[in-house]
Amino acid sequence: MNAPRIRPTVLSLPAYEPGRSLQKVREETGTSSLVKLASNESLWGPSPQALAAAQAALSECHLYPEVRFEPLQAALAKAHGLSSDQILVGNGADDLLRVIATACLEPGSTAIHLAPSFSYYRTAIVLAHGEPVAAPLTADGAPDLEAVLDRVTPATRLIFLCSPNNPTGNIVRRPAWDAFLDRLPPEVLVVVDQAYAEFCLDSAHPSLVREIRAGRPVVMVRTLSKAYGLAGLRIGWLAAPSALVQVFERVRDPFAVNLVAQRAAVAAVEDQAWLQRVLAETTLGRERLREALVARGLAVYPSEANFLLVEVPDDARAVAQAMERQGVIVRPASSFGLPRHIRVTVGPTWAQDRFLEALDTVLANRPGRD
Ligand SMILES: Cc1ncc(COP(=O)(O)O)c(C=O)c1O
Repeated sequence: MNAPRIRPTVLSLPAYEPGRSLQKVREETGTSSLVKLASNESLWGPSPQALAAAQAALSECHLYPEVRFEPLQAALAKAHGLSSDQILVGNGADDLLRVIATACLEPGSTAIHLAPSFSYYRTAIVLAHGEPVAAPLTADGAPDLEAVLDRVTPATRLIFLCSPNNPTGNIVRRPAWDAFLDRLPPEVLVVVDQAYAEFCLDSAHPSLVREIRAGRPVVMVRTLSKAYGLAGLRIGWLAAPSALVQVFERVRDPFAVNLVAQRAAVAAVEDQAWLQRVLAETTLGRERLREALVARGLAVYPSEANFLLVEVPDDARAVAQAMERQGVIVRPASSFGLPRHIRVTVGPTWAQDRFLEALDTVLANRPGRD
């Protein structure tokens, strides 16, 4: 039998390397008391109202979900000062990144993404037949907008920025952002993945609402996987000028967000009190954890997200493996091209303490130390 022919660019894609799951680490280490700080999920979980809405929706799961997702679009629009026709929801932010790339790219076109950053931009570009072009970060881990501009050519259609950037946590700031937008050719669309924007306390971070209302060529991508604690239900959304939303809607799978997820998402967005509690505890915890790491002499990137990127004195994969044996799962940043950094999710105080204890044990027992 002849082997099926697969696109060579698809074969060249690296497999996505997720944070290691609790079940896998439990099986491998035999440790039952584990804490996972490897995928920037919320250790506070979702709003109880979202859980109740999801449970109630199960009795209707013989029905197709709504195609227009109106209640969810309306809830998101109200929470962010936008109108429903400026919003599109998808099966996680990943789904929407792929929708945008599919709508904009074709053979011969290029798209710029940051490196190190979230790996899925590159995948989405390649799957959409575009050519990925990497742009570096600044020394403190923020998107380098000058370097991005330097890479714009007549073939450029798309720019994927990530702010706060995964895995560093640093952000794009005004007024550099305003100057960047003004200098871009009008045919280039800028996507800002703001998966972690809820955790950002810096008022210089552009929310993009102003630009979207003004019809500028920008897309804001968000998710309910992080601050809202609904990663397992897969809900992402984007905001853009309505003409762009209509284009993206043609590409998106009509039933992309299942009925249970839609109902849970509406309840989660309406429970802003729960969100604000999670954000307050996360941002306080981020500062506490950062101080504890700096006090140990470790370098930490400035972060406006729910994670910290920490430089470690050994190979990051070895440190992460040793920490798993202590019951704490963190993410070695090796797959981001940072073999001496680990990324840790900020959880409640008890989880921060478990992480610090495990790290102290692992670093104290490094080979070559007395
Ligand atoms: C920057 C960034 N964008 C998007 C995603 C994916 O989000 P979702 O779970 O909504 O697909 C992640 C997940 O880790 C992320 O870090």
